[in-house]
Amino acid sequence: MSRLSIHKLKEWKARGERFAMITAYDYPSARLVEQAGVPVILVGDSLGSVILGYESTVPVTMEDILHHLKPVVRATERAIVVADMPFMSYQANVDDAVRNAGRMLQEGGATAVKLEGGAHVAPLVQRLVESGIPVMGHLGLTPQSVNQFGGHKVQGKTPAAVAKLVSDAKALEDAGAFAVVLETIPAAAAQLVTDRLAIPTIGIGAGPHCDGQVQVFHDMLGLFDDCRKKKHAKEYARLGETIRDAVRTYIAEVQDASFPTQEHSFEMPECAPPELSRV
Ligand code: KIV
Repeated sequence: MSRLSIHKLKEWKARGERFAMITAYDYPSARLVEQAGVPVILVGDSLGSVILGYESTVPVTMEDILHHLKPVVRATERAIVVADMPFMSYQANVDDAVRNAGRMLQEGGATAVKLEGGAHVAPLVQRLVESGIPVMGHLGLTPQSVNQFGGHKVQGKTPAAVAKLVSDAKALEDAGAFAVVLETIPAAAAQLVTDRLAIPTIGIGAGPHCDGQVQVFHDMLGLFDDCRKKKHAKEYARLGETIRDAVRTYIAEVQDASFPTQEHSFEMPECAPPELSRV
């Protein structure tokens, strides 16, 4: 099976076909989401909080992303795998950014990279695309700028901010980006941006009008108790409870000796030497 092409996403937008993107950070999660049929997997720097326990994405490094990207690529055959460019891997200068983005494809096996920012990163996006590196943009509440924003606040709430979102999105499209994530902006602002682009928008906390949606694996599967507090996330399962219940049952069965049973044990072969059976 060959991987989907990034160009499919634009075709889907033109046909009005919506698509889902999900984050994955390891072999089992990537296998499961691909088996479920997701066409785009993001190895997001959200791994900083959901895998590594940081408070934000700021501490995530190139090595962190590469470490988690490789098993995701090994686990999948069909999905487009997008690697997030972590904080400070592309902001300092264009040459470092090109080298770092190149590592995501060459060492990590990613199909594409994602980076945050609007018109000011457009020249970099163009340089990456010219170097053969497909780029997904990311606008709105860009988590690497959380300290600049002063928290996880809804962006694009004024006419001027919406106009900036539209011009930033156009700049990314003109620079050659193949899709743009819109995070935590009003639904009406996301609709305006979506209507003005030929490339797809992928929303998270950006309402129903985007061409695609993205959810964080741990949020949509209810692995942590705080998922329910996140307005942009929908819990499609409560796996945290399922896992805790399963582990509690295992502990109890070990304690009362109801596990393992014969079913999980191995018999001595009938031809075992008699001296061994006397030991
Ligand atoms: O890192 C991430 O998971 C993301 C998505 C929330 C878009 O950037």
